[in-house]
Amino acid sequence: MPVITNIDDLKRIYRRRVPRMFYDYCESGSWTEQTFRANTSDFSEILLRQRVAIDMAGRSTASQMIGQDVSMPVALAPVGLTGMQSADGEIKAARAAEKFGVPYTLSTMSICSIEDVAENTSKPFWLQVYTLLDDDYMQRLFDRAKAAKCSAAVITVDLQMLGQRHKDIKNGLSAPPKLTPRSVANMATKARWGLEMLRTKRRSFGNIVGHVKAVKDPRDLSYWTNEAFDQSLDWDRIRQFRKMWDGPLVIKGIIDPRDAREALNVGADAIVVSNHGGRQLDGALSSIRALPQILDAVGDKIEVHLDSGIRSGQDVLKALAMGATGTYIGRAYIYGLGAMGEAGVTRALEVIHKELDVSMAFCGHRDIRKVDRDILMIPKGFSDGWQ
Ligand SMILES: Cc1cc2nc3c(=O)[nH]c(=O)nc-3n(C[C@H](O)[C@H](O)[C@H](O)COP(=O)(O)O)c2cc1C
Repeated sequence: MPVITNIDDLKRIYRRRVPRMFYDYCESGSWTEQTFRANTSDFSEILLRQRVAIDMAGRSTASQMIGQDVSMPVALAPVGLTGMQSADGEIKAARAAEKFGVPYTLSTMSICSIEDVAENTSKPFWLQVYTLLDDDYMQRLFDRAKAAKCSAAVITVDLQMLGQRHKDIKNGLSAPPKLTPRSVANMATKARWGLEMLRTKRRSFGNIVGHVKAVKDPRDLSYWTNEAFDQSLDWDRIRQFRKMWDGPLVIKGIIDPRDAREALNVGADAIVVSNHGGRQLDGALSSIRALPQILDAVGDKIEVHLDSGIRSGQDVLKALAMGATGTYIGRAYIYGLGAMGEAGVTRALEVIHKELDVSMAFCGHRDIRKVDRDILMIPKGFSDGWQ
């Protein structure tokens, strides 16, 4: 067992063990990747204020997200094709999350279906919802989520169409992977991945195939997003979804205070300040820079969560101290999953938990729910002053 002390260690192993097509799919942003890079580099512009000789015994990172108890306010973000990073990847990630006591969010574009994950886990998970044109499909998706006892729906509003990731086009990304001389040569070097993949029956989009009529090419993600996603999505349509789903509702993909107010008016329980991990509008603001203005607009009326760029417990601490009540990790747990399956996701959560706990203590706090902006040193003009 390799010694893993940080998220980068997992990424290095992940890169060796998973076929190039799926590594690239995860480790890319759109176009020039400016926003993808800013998501992580902007976190390091914020400094933490160290305090000393303060009682640090008896600490707690426990909190709540949308009224549900969490061992730390760090959920697993929805990630499409997770079951291509490791066989049955969604089930492995959901199991790691439930054992750790944090929420798991299953993507609409997952490989394992809602029912697969429900049958193989024992605690409710959250379902992320992409909005497709097919109304029947949408109603059935919410019904299936209800039947599977999902404890929240997370509607993603920043992907009516797909931001371009150059490598996905060049690699011919698909699930299952198309067999070309290049992809076969690369997969031949990933023996463990390949053997596990041969043993599972789950190798295509589990929530789509068999659930949507007239699937032309079920393997092709870009076909799906171009043809089947609802480009005309607006807040009235989201209001209709609010009626279809009477459980807790999270709206994900907000980066502007005006959209945060719209989400509030729709009756959401929480919003996720997110630019989709830098995969949609290249040149958009990083999430951590967008957060303060959104908190000013709606922070006292709705739970504000954040994702995009979190690679450490210190990043989580900064987002929480700024005022977010919850965070999500995407790539950080996918690195773990690709590196070591369920154990790797657990390791990613352990790493982030330890960093969060110890850094909180160094800042003079024992209860994660009590950290505030006082522990942060934020450069002037960090999140305002634009023309
Ligand atoms: C490979 C990959 C696939 C993703 N698929 C989805 C998805 O299916 N639905 C969704 O709402 N967000 C999706 N996202 C965005 C994540 O939910 C999350 O917003 C993002 O990963 C956060 O940034 P981080 O990876 O820097 O933590 C995806 C992200 C990645 C990296």
